[in-house]
Formats: sequence, C-alpha cells, structure tokens
Amino acid sequence: MTAFVGSLRATLCSPDIGLDLGTANTVVYERGAGVIISEPSVVAYAAGTDQIIAIGRAAKEMEGRVPGRIRVVRPLQRGTISDFLAAHALVGAMVDRALATRPRIAPRLVASVPGCATDIECKAFEQAVRASGARSATYVPQAVAAAVGAGLDITSVRAQMVVDIGGGTTEIAILAQAGVIRLSSVQIGGDELDEAIRQRLRLERFAIGPLTAERLKIELGYAGRAPGRAPGLVNGIDLDAAAPRVREVPETLVGEAMSEGINRIVRSIISVLERTPPDVAADLIESGITLTGGGALITGLAHEIGIRTNVPTTIATDPLTCVARGAGEILGSPSLHERLRPHADRLTRWYQSLRIGMRESYSP
Ligand SMILES: Nc1ncnc2c1ncn2[C@@H]1O[C@H](COP(=O)(O)OP(=O)(O)OP(=O)(O)O)[C@@H](O)[C@H]1O
Ligand SMILES: [Mg+2]
Repeated sequence: MTAFVGSLRATLCSPDIGLDLGTANTVVYERGAGVIISEPSVVAYAAGTDQIIAIGRAAKEMEGRVPGRIRVVRPLQRGTISDFLAAHALVGAMVDRALATRPRIAPRLVASVPGCATDIECKAFEQAVRASGARSATYVPQAVAAAVGAGLDITSVRAQMVVDIGGGTTEIAILAQAGVIRLSSVQIGGDELDEAIRQRLRLERFAIGPLTAERLKIELGYAGRAPGRAPGLVNGIDLDAAAPRVREVPETLVGEAMSEGINRIVRSIISVLERTPPDVAADLIESGITLTGGGALITGLAHEIGIRTNVPTTIATDPLTCVARGAGEILGSPSLHERLRPHADRLTRWYQSLRIGMRESYSP
C-alpha cells in the first residue's frame, strides 16, 4: 500500500530531484523513488563536429578506444566545469532520462555543483539546469548535501565532519546547526590516483588506459598497510616491444603509486582540523568523521584517516550516491531548504574566487 501511494505520488506530483554533477559521475535522486540515474559524466562527439553520439556509460566505454573518429569529453575537470556545452548536454540528458517515464511535470531541483570558473559559467550552468525543465533550482555545497545523504543530522548543535572524496575533488566540511563552520576543497580525487598508477607503470615501460588504471585502483589499491592480495593481470602496451602484452601488477606497486595522493588527502583533513576551534574539535572526537564519495571505498583509507587524525572515521552507506540523495532530501525539509538557500549566492562567489590548486576555506 505504502509503495503504491509512493508510486502514485511520484507519477502525479511535481518530483523533487537531487542532482550531483560530479567530475566522474552524475547521479540523479528522486525523493520517494530513490537513485534513478547514476552514469559517468562523459559525452562523446563525432570527431570534428558538435554532434553528440553518446552520453554517460556508453560514452565512457568509448574513451580511449576509437581515437580519430570519436572525441570523448569529460565536461568537468578537477571539480570545475571545463566544457560548458558538454555539461549542458549532460545535465539535460540526465534530467530527461530521469523524467522519461512519467507525464512531464517540472521538478523542483537541488543541485550540488563543484566550482564554477567564472560568473558567466555559473549563470550558464543555472540556465542549463532550468532549461532541463526544473521549476526551481537551488544550489547547496557538495559537502552539505553529502552530510545529509550520509544521514547526519546537520541541524544538531554538535559539530560533525564530512569528507567527500570524488573523482576530481575532496571536499571537507565541519557542520553544525545547519551551518558550515569550515569548508575546504582540494583538487585531488580518484582521477589523480588513476593517473599516478599509469605513470608508475610507464616507468616500467608499460602503458595502460585510464579505465584499466581505475580498475587497478579499485581492485588492488589501498591506503596504509598492504592487505596482501594476489597480483592482478592487466592488458597494455609493452613500450619497448611496441606490442600489446598482458602483465602482472602487484598490489604494492598500485598502493605505492597512490600513496602521495592519499597523503595529500589526509594532510588536507589534518589542516582543517588544526584550524578548528577547540570546542568544535572536542565535538568531533565524539561525532567522528564520515567519508562519502567513491574515494571513501579505497581499501584501508577510513582506517588510515582515523589513525592519523585521532578522530574515529567511518564510511557512509552507499557513499557514491550520498550527495544526490542529500540534495534531494533537503527539499523534503522546508526549514532546512530555507536555511541553506542563503548559502547559495555566497557559495557561488566563493567558488569564483577559487583557482586551480589553491582553495581557501569558506566561512559563511
Ligand atoms: N570501490 C572503489 N574503490 C576505490 N575508488 C573507487 C571505488 N568506487 C569508485 N571509486 C572512485 O571514486 C571516484 C568517483 O567518485 P564520485 O562519483 O563520488 O566522484 P564525483 O562526484 O563524480 O567527483 P567530484 O565530486 O570530485 O566532482 C572515481 O575516481 C572512482 O574510480
Ligand atoms: Mg562528488
């Protein structure tokens, strides 16, 4: 019965949508229906034209496979929109797919966007979201949405910390009473770890593609101590023989390649903690750090962060969808929605002041 009422509501009412436009993945969540889209943030064009031939998973599979005939674009790089037209197409396609099975009723939408490079791009992104059919669009800091999606009560007076480790960025936030006490964003994430693995193998004269590097990171990567897993087998190119070859890759090679990037992530968390007022830090020892984003799933990372910060660290349930779920759920709480709304303008200005590699803390 409840399920029937839920699906009737979803069919007839204006949907509440949470959108996470991420560097690696775009996730769409609908309140009452759950996560309805989760696809790579990738757009494929016919080479030399503006003709889109695939968006999402199909486009990602073409990456590195058909050079010359197809141009594969990631609209976001390191958390920043780098190709606005492709981002526009991606958002439009994902919202369309999400609403495809129902009479078209304009949704209310909360979007969590990473940094916009310029004022014009921010405005243009807003237009893209509206053009996708949204009745209203609000923006929330990614880490705030991640915290809500992780099930943290961000209205609590007790401070809580969330660290969202994505493909291009790591966003670190300390929140209390629906406000942001500290927000820091570092341009490092899973993509850079993948690249480090590729570079490491290149030193051994072996070239692999980005998808293979990502697979190695997921299957053999780790933070801290090596778990002792069997080596993996990968296909690549032996650069000396200039021929395709299969080779073994030990987990320590993968872990060592990732260690510098992981260190930067952990050091960023420590630096936020060091600048935290003592009472807030005392709260965190009790409430802990919650990890979200795909990077949260790196083997041993939560443990490593816990040891090095001395703050208990846990991984949120389904960390890859926390931001979209949180963004959508904010719409279900009118008071929270209103309280977060004023952040949107200031946040946009803050994002505009950001430059690659150097990000200040945001204090509302
Ligand atoms: N099991 C796993 N172990 C390690 N890394 C993983 C795992 N699953 C996904 N990832 C990595 O997580 C990253 C994607 O995470 P996520 O979808 O949260 O990023 P995003 O939101 O698109 O990026 P950003 O927030 O930086 O804009 C990718 O680098 C992916 O390889
Ligand atoms: Mg993200």
